[in-house]
Amino acid sequence: MAILVTGGAGYIGSHTCVELQNAGYDVVVLDNLVNSSEKSLDRVEAITGKKVKFYKGDICDRQILNEVFAKESIDSVIHFAGLKAVGESVQKPWEYYENNIAGTLTLVDVMRQNGCKNIIFSSSATVYGNPAQIPITEECPKGQCTNPYGWTKSMLEQILSDIYKADNEWNVVLLRYFNPIGAHKSGTMGENPNGIPNNLMPYITQVAVGKLPELGVFGDDYDTPDGTGVRDYIHVVDLADGHVKALKKIEEKAGLKIYNLGTGVGYSVLDIVKNFEAATGVKIPYQIKPRRAGDIATCYSDATKAKEELGWTAKYGIKEMCEDSWRWQKNNPNGYED
Ligand code: NAD
Ligand code: UD1
Repeated sequence: MAILVTGGAGYIGSHTCVELQNAGYDVVVLDNLVNSSEKSLDRVEAITGKKVKFYKGDICDRQILNEVFAKESIDSVIHFAGLKAVGESVQKPWEYYENNIAGTLTLVDVMRQNGCKNIIFSSSATVYGNPAQIPITEECPKGQCTNPYGWTKSMLEQILSDIYKADNEWNVVLLRYFNPIGAHKSGTMGENPNGIPNNLMPYITQVAVGKLPELGVFGDDYDTPDGTGVRDYIHVVDLADGHVKALKKIEEKAGLKIYNLGTGVGYSVLDIVKNFEAATGVKIPYQIKPRRAGDIATCYSDATKAKEELGWTAKYGIKEMCEDSWRWQKNNPNGYED
């Protein structure tokens, strides 16, 4: 039996393929490469010594999905495929709703027609909006999202929950990621953003490698210890391992489950800059800029539920996250294009 990993060539997907293969699973990837390179899968194979079966195709395309399910014996789906650029989603809401929501509806329909009713979905802490409590437990009510990307996550959580409620044969695990950073320790796989990065760590590593002159720190007047935004950064390999643990839960019959995947520790933007400098010896020049629209002051998880129910807990600290992000960027200044 194999695991279908949609979006498996992407940042989190490729790291998850490594952990799945290391745990003994056969992996089939479906990805249209809209935001990734097939080379990431060569790197997966080089690390694990195992073949990744790859289909280049779109989750909106019923024909390719039917082909995958006809040819492969798919037991469960880990569904990463989606567009994820927050700013772009404000400019192109239709494209985001079409790709993320219509794509998932098509995927789920083909799954059920083929008797595959196990899905792990990539959700986000963004569904909490401006969170009602810190640290954020899964009981915290969902909030108002500030952009269409966030709404696709919130709506897809609702859609998948309703599908489970109507048919309890489904196993639906919704994983709410906090802020994934870091890279595989080999330095051969990592995040490969298009153009100027929107997220903090890829921006910092591009400053460190000399591609960008300085970091802009978005606001220093938040109600946080140093005035800059506080987030729960989690190593991507820990995140990947969370998916293997969720799969084990599905094998025991999960039903509908929601888990935060975070470390439970919050770091400010300036904490990250200092930790990056300490871990790598590279200085990061920065300038304080106005707040970024849609940002909140503080967001970090209570990850107790994943620990108790999945036996999962994050192993890597901020030092490894910085070192590993840097090793990837330094060895691959142009990502997979080298
Ligand atoms: P990514 O862009 O690196 O990976 C997504 C992959 O999906 C890419 O390889 C892309 O080519 C593929 N894809 C997009 N639309 C597709 C389609 N219609 N058909 C087939 N493939 C398609 O992003 P990532 O950081 O690895 O994120 C993976 C998932 O986790 C996404 O759903 C994202 O929204 C979610 N997520 C990411 C973060 C984060 O900070 N990276 C946080 C929370 C949630
Ligand atoms: C962002 C998205 C979120 C998405 C997540 C992962 C927004 C509002 N939120 O989360 O929906 O799930 O990415 O893709 O975009 N920062 C700077 N300078 C920079 C970049 C970031 O100071 O150049 C600060 C931000 O203000 C924030 C922190 O760094 O305080 C982390 O930012 P980022 O990495 O973009 O993640 P989030 O905003 O938490």
